Amino acid sequence: MIPVASRIRGFTYAIRNIVAEAKKVEASGTRVRYLNIGDPIPFGFHTPAHMIEAVERALRDGHNGYAPSVGILPAREAVTAECVNRGMPMTPDRVIITSGTSEGIELALTALAESGDEVLVPTPTYPLYTAVLAKIGARAVFYRTDPDRGWQPDLDHVRSLITPRTRALVVIDPNNPTGASYPDPTRLALLEIADRHNIPLLADEVYADLAFDGPVPAFSRQHHDAPVITFSSLSKAYLAPGWRSGWMAVGQNERLDDVLAAIKKLADGRLCSNGPMEHGLVAALNGDRSHQAAFRAALRERAILSHERLNAIDGITSVMPSAAFYAMPRVALPPGTTDEDYVLALLRATGVLCVYGSGFGTDPADGFFRIVFLASPAELSDVYDLIAEFTRDYLARGR
Ligand SMILES: Cc1ncc(COP(=O)(O)O)c(C=O)c1O
Repeated sequence: MIPVASRIRGFTYAIRNIVAEAKKVEASGTRVRYLNIGDPIPFGFHTPAHMIEAVERALRDGHNGYAPSVGILPAREAVTAECVNRGMPMTPDRVIITSGTSEGIELALTALAESGDEVLVPTPTYPLYTAVLAKIGARAVFYRTDPDRGWQPDLDHVRSLITPRTRALVVIDPNNPTGASYPDPTRLALLEIADRHNIPLLADEVYADLAFDGPVPAFSRQHHDAPVITFSSLSKAYLAPGWRSGWMAVGQNERLDDVLAAIKKLADGRLCSNGPMEHGLVAALNGDRSHQAAFRAALRERAILSHERLNAIDGITSVMPSAAFYAMPRVALPPGTTDEDYVLALLRATGVLCVYGSGFGTDPADGFFRIVFLASPAELSDVYDLIAEFTRDYLARGR
């Protein structure tokens, strides 16, 4: 056998890893309902036509060569305007167009953390952060977000975890997997921590337009002296996840100038993001956004339905999300069982595929699992019938 690098052992991504199990269930003849991946397209939401036309035009007009490694100027200008309109001062020379938020995250963490360094990551977290940190040999240090306080971050816990090796503070707001968004005082406290300790705050704002009450302002808006790098993409609010098109913007703060230069150096090495999609990104940010209001309304309806139906199940509690398309319910597991046991048993018995909370960093015994609620209300209603019936039996067996 040809050996693989040891770093692969630490690289896990439960959202996709669990699909192997679903394929087995499917092969046995059960219909699987894939509620594991946050992709609106399979659920009947459509990429806006003007974005598709812009990419088609770019392809036909010959924009098929390499783009500049930081991205084409009109795309960087569009991102700059987006940042400024949200309250984050920006100039195009501090913007890099990336292959999704994911590539921005990887570039930033690679530029910031040495092997053995520490990065503060929320728990539960979007798992790419821990996966990338495993790859570069840095350590994820988890700060709590609290389901009993609407999944808000525990600020004292954040403060208590800072050491001389802390190289970044990751904040996901609005959040995947919890669907929480953070109020101004919480945001300001996090910005002050970053400022005082000279730690770059990596603001994952990929769901900023998908708060049910309307877009949330830039994370950095209240404190422009804090060192903030922001990330977003076309994947969620612009309904084009397969395009792999996103951006990062490095805050106008001279403390971040070396980091910006390092990120650009790394970006040179991967040549560029997907060129034709950069034209779609310009059309997205500069064009009609009316699809977003309709999308937010659809998400709110599904969130309310999910919240009511989940909390009506004996043994399950769930916090009402305020953004995005995720709920993170908790099932009171029988002693000795794990969240993964429950999720796999649910899959095998009903074909409903969720992701166990420990895939996002929660304790396996705590019984959290994540549901993507993008399916139609009728389909979701069937799903919650299945979960209710299954959970009643599962918990009765454990008693
Ligand atoms: C919080 C968060 N960050 C980043 C990503 C990755 O998104 P992209 O498709 O822009 O790489 C996701 C995708 O689900 C996400 O939920």
